[in-house]
Amino acid sequence: MRFSDLTARIAGEGTDAWIVHDLAVARQLRGDDVILLSIGDPDFDTPRPIRDAAIAALDAGRTHYAPIGGEPRLRDAIAAHEARTLGIPVDPACVTIFPGAQAALYAVAQCLVNPGDEVIALDPAYVTYEPVFQAPGATLVTVPLRPEHRFHVEPDVVARAITPRTRGIILNFPHNPTGAGLTGAEAAGIAALCRAHDLWCISDEVYASLTFDEPHVSVLVQPGMRERGILVSSLSKSHAMTGWRCGWAVTPPALARHLDHLARAMFFGVAQFVQDAAAVALAAHSPDLEHIRASYVQRARTMVAGLAHAPGRPGSRAARAHRCTLLQTASRPAWRDAWCAPDDAMRPPAQRPGASVRFPPSTIRPPFP
Ligand SMILES: Cc1ncc(COP(=O)(O)O)c(C=O)c1O
Repeated sequence: MRFSDLTARIAGEGTDAWIVHDLAVARQLRGDDVILLSIGDPDFDTPRPIRDAAIAALDAGRTHYAPIGGEPRLRDAIAAHEARTLGIPVDPACVTIFPGAQAALYAVAQCLVNPGDEVIALDPAYVTYEPVFQAPGATLVTVPLRPEHRFHVEPDVVARAITPRTRGIILNFPHNPTGAGLTGAEAAGIAALCRAHDLWCISDEVYASLTFDEPHVSVLVQPGMRERGILVSSLSKSHAMTGWRCGWAVTPPALARHLDHLARAMFFGVAQFVQDAAAVALAAHSPDLEHIRASYVQRARTMVAGLAHAPGRPGSRAARAHRCTLLQTASRPAWRDAWCAPDDAMRPPAQRPGASVRFPPSTIRPPFP
């Protein structure tokens, strides 16, 4: 039997990333003492008030089809949440709800690019960007984030990657995996490129609430972003809700209409009880969230401090300002071996380079969520 060409475009490294995770989970289920570091899944339970809201919604019969683009209550809550985060007004009509940021990214790519188009991403990059943009036939063109530049984006380097086929740039700040943030000047530089070359700017901000020492800066507040900027986010990391599958895209109204059509064709809306709980998650500030966040800060500091004093200390370029670190192990193979299990032998800790992100050679990321 024959399959579509799409099946080849969505396979590859992005899919392989889950293999190590699945192996590790299988070993855990067999009772092996495996520490899972492979996927960015918080080890905290979703806070109790959010779980209670879902239970109450189920008991109230909220088990039917939801409006395709999202429940009005949740779209209002997301618009208010993003308006607070960005510091600009956000219209609920521009919000479309998806089963996670991942689905939002996929849908956005389907509605923006054609075969032969190019999209610029920053390397190292969250590994599923490649299949997401390859699915509709586009090519992901990567621009390096250089360690000597603290993994910050350099708009002049991005500019050199723009061709007549470029349709957009995808940013992800706070950045997975380096932890780097965005400065106002960098955001202005990227926005200027998007205006000058008529490009879409997709901003994946799933880690926006997990900046530690510096405030979150979004490219979407820059001039011109109202008509070409796309915000993708979710509750997965911020509220320890990975398994609930609840994310969103905030887009110009015309794109929101196309996304609604795609959602209609593809998944027919996110479960009502999930959306009710998500609205509670965004409206009520649970002390559990502060506890989760404080734990991440503590873990990051412990890791950075521990590495600083470790014997045979690796060339650590820890981006302390944000949520995680990237370690350079080029000159320290022993460190790499200690942290990275071979694909076929999952021994704790279950981490390998490239488990959920595309890594530069000789680096590993001790993962936070
Ligand atoms: C940068 C980035 N974007 C998107 C996602 C997908 O998140 P979600 O669970 O909301 O689909 C992840 C998950 O690890 C991520 O790291």
